[in-house]
Amino acid sequence: MTATRARSRVEGPLKLTGAARYAADHRPDGVLHAVLVGAPVAAGRLRGVEVAAALVLPGVTAVLTAADLPAFPELPPPSAVRVMPFSDDRIRYEGQPVAIVLAESAGAAEAGRAAVIVDCERETPVLIGHGRREPVMDEDRGDVDAALAEAEIRIEQTYLQAPRHHHTMETSGTVARWDGGRLTLWDSVQASSTVIPIVSTAFGLDAADVHVVAPHTGGGFGAKGYIWPHEILAAAAARVAGRPVKLHLRRPDQFSNVGYQPWMEQTIRLGATADGVLLGLEHEVVNNTALADTHVEPATEASKSLYAVPALRLRQLVERVSLNVPTPMRAPVEGPGLWALESAMNELAAAAGLDPLDVRLANFAEVSPADGRPWSSNGLREAYEEGARRYGWRTRHQRPRREGPWLIGHGMATCSMGSFRFPGAGRVRLRRDGAVVEANVHDIGTGVQTVLSQIAAEELGISPDRVETRWGDTDLPATGPTYGSSTTMGTGSAVAAAARDVSKQLAELGLGGRDPLDALGRAGIDELVGEGTFELPGGAGFNADGAGTPYAIRTWGVIFTEVGVDPDFGLLRLRRAVGVYSAGRIVNQVTARAQMTGGIIWGWGKATMEESDQEPARGRWLAKNLSNVAVPVNADIPAGIDVSFTDEYDETASLIGARGIGELGATGVDEIGRASCRERV
Ligand code: MOS
Repeated sequence: MTATRARSRVEGPLKLTGAARYAADHRPDGVLHAVLVGAPVAAGRLRGVEVAAALVLPGVTAVLTAADLPAFPELPPPSAVRVMPFSDDRIRYEGQPVAIVLAESAGAAEAGRAAVIVDCERETPVLIGHGRREPVMDEDRGDVDAALAEAEIRIEQTYLQAPRHHHTMETSGTVARWDGGRLTLWDSVQASSTVIPIVSTAFGLDAADVHVVAPHTGGGFGAKGYIWPHEILAAAAARVAGRPVKLHLRRPDQFSNVGYQPWMEQTIRLGATADGVLLGLEHEVVNNTALADTHVEPATEASKSLYAVPALRLRQLVERVSLNVPTPMRAPVEGPGLWALESAMNELAAAAGLDPLDVRLANFAEVSPADGRPWSSNGLREAYEEGARRYGWRTRHQRPRREGPWLIGHGMATCSMGSFRFPGAGRVRLRRDGAVVEANVHDIGTGVQTVLSQIAAEELGISPDRVETRWGDTDLPATGPTYGSSTTMGTGSAVAAAARDVSKQLAELGLGGRDPLDALGRAGIDELVGEGTFELPGGAGFNADGAGTPYAIRTWGVIFTEVGVDPDFGLLRLRRAVGVYSAGRIVNQVTARAQMTGGIIWGWGKATMEESDQEPARGRWLAKNLSNVAVPVNADIPAGIDVSFTDEYDETASLIGARGIGELGATGVDEIGRASCRERV
């Protein structure tokens, strides 16, 4: 089976040749093209929308405003917003939808948009750093003030993080078609099963009357995790127009309509002995949210769960500003949280004159610091050792050195993610010519089809080339969302169980122990159908870190990097990176390494390039297209990114021994970018 464990993406050729179909590639007969008209100011009151000039343009069929749309009820999570746009005349962020242009072509709709006049009373927007702050979560363990008072080393630092957008290559979009009272959506999403309850609530439909088809998804990173207003507006517009409607967000509209990672201010206080042993830790997090909707970025989780620290104080606050609501972004929670915590740990090491790796080892958590449960499986110690060996950490230049114009420094950080598990189902159909895996996952570029086909193939004892995967359709077995680094672990286990069900049926028919395809043929059976599920303790719909089990489940890793700075030109270069990760069994080395490598590059971009600015006079997002958006390209990335995994099998986490993996690589990197730069400047 080992040969199957390094498989390239099966959908690669489809994507490379343009044959892969995305949501917007679906054009039902009679489809109208919709474009949102956004509020031109970030704060104020909508007086009216003048549509006459748009309506006379060729191809424009309608301009819908609040009066044309149904009144929507308040929407529960995972709707990203509680109150839909068009619900009142308040303007709370620039780009907030105030009208929808419908036309026979995308070009006509765009022309119509430009002709619509939005009449509004402008008010002063609330800028980041100036909004009202509200506490949302407090947690205390032990006496932090006493611990900090008695500490020999104290670190206090505030870390600021700019907002940044997901910028998926395929913008979010929805094609909606009504057939009487039944609604079909072709949707660019990460969790189509969760679209159904929200859309059926919005329109008062039976869940059975909503069908979501979510084919290839051109990147998600969290922007397509929750349900966003444009999905509901596409369906509403189609109902009003009596024709199918395609509402695919224009790139400029993407900034205000599908979330971003919030601006964050994190303050960390650490108290430690002279040997670097933590006595107390305080972590206060503020993230911006919208005026009417709330997103909490629970970055304090990182401090709660990583190190063995006896006294802890965690505070989470939100700050309300005139921007659209943020949303999770790869890697949520620990991504931002570790940027602050691990930067502070590096500062602690510097203040104590200790090796940063030794400071981590001195605070190693043998059991879960959050609740004392033993770990289901934990390869972090091994990862530290292997990473240090591969990097040559212990023999590095202890002080920054010069190489031509470059100043060279080294940095390291721990990586960690919580374990989000969702229940789900999978089906395996064994036929004479091969097997078909069915599960409503999403292909956001992570390699899910490849991995599910491998899992089924391994269980059945056939070649993965004989396994086809069907995904992205709510008529398939419902399974967990394609976010939270949860898919391989959860859906992969359901598929493994379904394949075992097939094997059991083969055995019962006396056909076990041989090539199953051959066996089916000889027995004259066309198809055997196996069903499998992945269930959580107590039948829960979600489980974080193994809650309700005797074991705490998390993932870990370590990243070591070498960074160069050219002080004359202000250039920054990532020269080398070594990451070693502990994530349970690795089902596919190729796709797993690609995830981690991508995460490291993503983290480098976060540390050194990405930033979505709120323009200070008008309160809108400064960028309106990708020309203002810097992300790392090949020239910014070294060939030397060395990714490996500890050898584990975590039977507590999942049937297949895997834990979550996708976003782990996107933690721990950003602090190194900054910390190692600071060493020399
Ligand atoms: Mo990721 S933010 O869980 O898509």
